[in-house]
Amino acid sequence: MSAPPPPCPVWLAERLRNCGGAVPFQRFMAWALHDPDHGAYGAGRLRIGRDGDFVTSPALGPDFAALLAPQLAAWLSAHGPGPLALVEAGPGEGALALELAQALQRHWPALAARTTLWLVEPNAGMAERQRRLLQASPLPCRWTCWQELAAAPVRGVVLAHEVLDALAVERIVWDGALWRRQLVRLVEGGSTGPRLRLEPGEPLEPEALAHLAALGLDPPGEQRPAGWCTELHPGSGPWLEACAAALAAGPLLVIDYALEAWRYYAPQRSAGTLLAYRGQRASTDPLLEPGAWDLTAHLCIDTLQEQARRAGWRVLGQCRQGEALLALGLAERLHGLQHDPPAGQASGLAERLELREALLRLVDPHTLGDFRWLAFSRGPMATPRFLLPPAPAP
Ligand SMILES: C[S@@+](CC[C@H](N)C(=O)[O-])C[C@H]1O[C@@H](n2cnc3c(N)ncnc32)[C@H](O)[C@@H]1O
Repeated sequence: MSAPPPPCPVWLAERLRNCGGAVPFQRFMAWALHDPDHGAYGAGRLRIGRDGDFVTSPALGPDFAALLAPQLAAWLSAHGPGPLALVEAGPGEGALALELAQALQRHWPALAARTTLWLVEPNAGMAERQRRLLQASPLPCRWTCWQELAAAPVRGVVLAHEVLDALAVERIVWDGALWRRQLVRLVEGGSTGPRLRLEPGEPLEPEALAHLAALGLDPPGEQRPAGWCTELHPGSGPWLEACAAALAAGPLLVIDYALEAWRYYAPQRSAGTLLAYRGQRASTDPLLEPGAWDLTAHLCIDTLQEQARRAGWRVLGQCRQGEALLALGLAERLHGLQHDPPAGQASGLAERLELREALLRLVDPHTLGDFRWLAFSRGPMATPRFLLPPAPAP
């Protein structure tokens, strides 16, 4: 017997009634994550970290920032004299921004002296926590939005760590004859009040079908039966355009869950990549307690790179996080733990073992090590190679 459909919170039931009873999945996901009063990020409800709803690489400790810093410093240095911007989109708890600012100040003080940390965070609930943590930042911090930056575009680097996976996705379903946009519908009545249901909606329009054809999904072929469902990423193109308008010159580094189109849209991946997270638990049901769970979908590498080219970015390359961190000195850091603990860190055995475990988790090929680092650049500057060998601190 299948589980009953999940109940619908009052605020969402009202919204859905006002929209005629159903909305495309993308709109539902945007509400559930970013509504300022009820959204999981918008209301600042989600917590990132070991004691929170989910863990990201920076939440495992300071090593991630320490390994990333030389790459960002090299990119900042390539700009030549003048003011510089280190822009972080979607800083979450703010820990990565703080650790990067501290690393720049410690190892590249001349660069730090002319760098401002810009935080692009649309969700007020998250920005409030970032402000508190970043009071300790040695670099000046400014919260902003892409539109404000576009009025006076900056030179520097943009970092987007686990941000694009939080943009609302479109879900589409093959019904055996047509591709349809998936809807979230309010089902009234029943003894426990209104409930939510996913159902196929309007057929996709020709422009969306042309995109599917480019991904090898139209026609879908016999291996994708009726009910086969996946996601499209209409939010990342406008995001890349807005980011491009804000940056006069410099690289953008996107770090996220991502798959090549042939893996993303493989016939056996019959329900896409969408997952819900709360309290370190994952669920494939995106309708559970909307506004209380994180909802996240992988990026499609081919789609993102194509959207980036259209938005005026040069594609520098991409690799797995495991490869990136090894190229940036993770193995040396592990080796160093056996001998001299990093200055100011972990002298006891237990602490060193904990640091070792965190480093290994960052490159575990089954989890964080499989994340992708995707680099882009724009504007007139000689961008140093993506993935520098370990850079000695000056
Ligand atoms: C999964 S969290 C990642 C946080 C942090 N970067 C980390 O890795 O720990 C997503 C973050 O992106 C923010 N966010 C969501 N949509 C965004 C958008 N369109 N632009 C910038 N940030 C966004 C969220 O509010 C949240 O701070």
